[in-house]
Amino acid sequence: MTSASVSSRPRPVSRARAFDLSAVEAARRRLAPGIRLTPCHAAPALTARAGRSIWLKREDLQRTGSFKERGARHALLCLEPAERTRGVVAASAGNHALGLAYHGAQLGVSVTVVMPATAPAVKVSRCRTLGAQVILHGATFEAAHRHALALAAATGATFVHPFDDRRVMAGQGTLALEILEQVPELDTLVVAVGGGGLLAGVATVVKALRPDVRVVAAEPAAAAGFAAAWRQGAPVTAPVERTLADGLAVACVGGEAFAAAAARVDAVVTASEAEIGGALAVLARECGAVVEGAAAAALAPVLAGRVEGRALVVVLGGRNIDAAAHAAVLAAHPAADRTTGLAASGATSARSFD
Ligand SMILES: Cc1ncc(COP(=O)(O)O)c(C=O)c1O
Repeated sequence: MTSASVSSRPRPVSRARAFDLSAVEAARRRLAPGIRLTPCHAAPALTARAGRSIWLKREDLQRTGSFKERGARHALLCLEPAERTRGVVAASAGNHALGLAYHGAQLGVSVTVVMPATAPAVKVSRCRTLGAQVILHGATFEAAHRHALALAAATGATFVHPFDDRRVMAGQGTLALEILEQVPELDTLVVAVGGGGLLAGVATVVKALRPDVRVVAAEPAAAAGFAAAWRQGAPVTAPVERTLADGLAVACVGGEAFAAAAARVDAVVTASEAEIGGALAVLARECGAVVEGAAAAALAPVLAGRVEGRALVVVLGGRNIDAAAHAAVLAAHPAADRTTGLAASGATSARSFD
């Protein structure tokens, strides 16, 4: 699987949409007491490696281990009283499900989630512990999605889309409002793309408040749905191969999300599985951050030299990875001796941020 920079030019979209900064600002006001303000740390080890300043927005430190709970909680807060009573149903690769499960319990809304049978065990078991009903269905996000839609139609529960929903996009965008306050000197913001909800929210905020800041969309080459849509000018179904970044394994980006994001994104870059694994190992060893593949996928193209900029913020989207899978990635990517560039066996020391 190769990886590349797909384009560096924003492509205008013809469909004018009204999703804008005010939706994200309203979401921030609603979310304030229920969502953590996560740190955005300078990462000296990465800065030394890459030769430019890098900060990490630590969304892995949210209560359920990912930014997805921003959009999930916001969607729940926007329900009408009758909808709250009937409960919600969702399809999710895992993190949206965790966000809904946790905040559904907090807000007294019953939650049913359909996950692909391939979802990491840690995501499935934590969802169940949080009180959600979890149904495993199909091998892909798309199969789980179809099943969840049928379930919503049959039960009257409200379907909460994991990315193609303005309430969700607005919730995800709140993390960009924080970043602009935390690191005003940034010139580039890198976010991973699955279905595009995070990118839509973030790009909308950045281009409204700081149009000088470049927004870079990062994807696994094994699941490059946004890159395909970007080339085409509209969402298209792209091939999805097995990827360490399970949260990004979406074949077709959302129409709403793409319409909001496309003209506001400056570059789309992809990373190979080896690069994503390497970035995950670097984050663990050099930054003390245990994260999932979807988070490493945002850093991987930066470390590969595929992202321009002198002051970069990389969003670490989540930490929900099975311990055995994490250990296997570390084993497959032994620490390199900086002076020789050779792999050094057993070198696992971690350095923290500060
Ligand atoms: C950790 C992580 N990062 C990024 C994404 C991508 O988000 P979106 O589907 O809104 O593009 C996901 C999606 O589940 C995720 O779990």
